[in-house]
Amino acid sequence: MKALVLQKGDGKENNNFKYPAVLSEIPLPALNSDNDDVLIKLQAVAFNHRDVWIRKGSYSGLQFNSILGSDGVGIVQKTSRDESSYLIGQQVVINPGSGWEKDPKGPENKFGILGLLPLPGTFAEYIAVPRAEIFPVPDHLSATEAAAFPLAGLTAFRAIFTKANVQPGENVLITGIGGGVALIALSFISSIGANAYVTSSDESKIKKAIELGAKGGVNYKEDEWPTKLKTLLPNDRPFLDSVIDSAGGEIVSQTANLLRPGGIIACYGMTSAYGRASPPSTPLTVSAMGKNIELKGTTMGSKDEFERMLNFVKEKKIKPVISGVWHGLENAPEIFEIMNKKNQFGKLVIEFN
Ligand SMILES: NC(=O)c1ccc[n+]([C@@H]2O[C@H](COP(=O)([O-])OP(=O)(O)OC[C@H]3O[C@@H](n4cnc5c(N)ncnc54)[C@H](OP(=O)(O)O)[C@@H]3O)[C@@H](O)[C@H]2O)c1
Repeated sequence: MKALVLQKGDGKENNNFKYPAVLSEIPLPALNSDNDDVLIKLQAVAFNHRDVWIRKGSYSGLQFNSILGSDGVGIVQKTSRDESSYLIGQQVVINPGSGWEKDPKGPENKFGILGLLPLPGTFAEYIAVPRAEIFPVPDHLSATEAAAFPLAGLTAFRAIFTKANVQPGENVLITGIGGGVALIALSFISSIGANAYVTSSDESKIKKAIELGAKGGVNYKEDEWPTKLKTLLPNDRPFLDSVIDSAGGEIVSQTANLLRPGGIIACYGMTSAYGRASPPSTPLTVSAMGKNIELKGTTMGSKDEFERMLNFVKEKKIKPVISGVWHGLENAPEIFEIMNKKNQFGKLVIEFN
């Protein structure tokens, strides 16, 4: 089968990426009856910024020869146990995480994500995964739409509901709205009647976010963006209740004055802090501490949260914002470049015939 495989190369693939992702011909995955595995023929797979960090060499636990990709939807072809054979022919979406059943605090076991060995990735024609990690695709979604949800939807769901406990009527800031997680967060927050505000580097993305339901937005490239954001908040609730953040860096000092006492920053990424000499960080400032602001780190989520996220998407009939759809893994180099240059607005998906 064809698969997109991370290779070491010479460690300087091009100006943007350190390691190549090579379209390779490899054997079909084997089924493991100990795990009660299923073999899935993928119909659609989606990109996450994680795939970019991996190729840049900025992701911990890199393993060469890994099949890349964490998001996938497909049809079950084969099962390792006869009692699971009723699944053959069913369309399923795959939980991208493993080792985390349901503890809201964090993984019970060693956490792994599809797309780095020892776990296979979805950027392939077929994938074998444990039966326990597959779920039915919500009825209102096509394979392409459903493939946009797994990693980003799970991350947004946990950050919003488990960590920030967002309630209807609250004001929530989402940073970097062009991102896959951020746009799903916008749809989740709007769907419960909370007010979403956004930041972006691009005025046209702010405009599109407002068309999708955001109450307002500011450009994070302008130093004064927090002051500008304050003027957008409603008179009867002139503060933020929480921030769903992918930027990291100075986000605490930037939003402490806007947050209510005890406001929550759920930080799932530190995009703004990459590329510096020291490891990315997000310092808690003394004024934020004095205001009882909670800075909470959050990573993807448990299988229980994944299932609840899918049910939520189904109940609210939420559709993802898809920036582009390509046909075939041959298009991966172009998609990596788009994501690296943040030229997207929403998810980037590959369909297979
Ligand atoms: N912890 C986890 O489990 C987890 C899960 C998913 C993602 N993440 C992390 O979260 C981040 C976003 O992931 P993604 O897959 O949604 O990425 P993505 O689709 O590639 O989106 C990235 C977006 O980040 C925004 N951005 C870039 N630099 C920024 C800055 N200095 N300040 C604020 N926003 C900035 C840009 O928004 P504009 O285009 O609007 O400027 C860009 O479109 C990545 O760092 C990723 O590694 C973590």
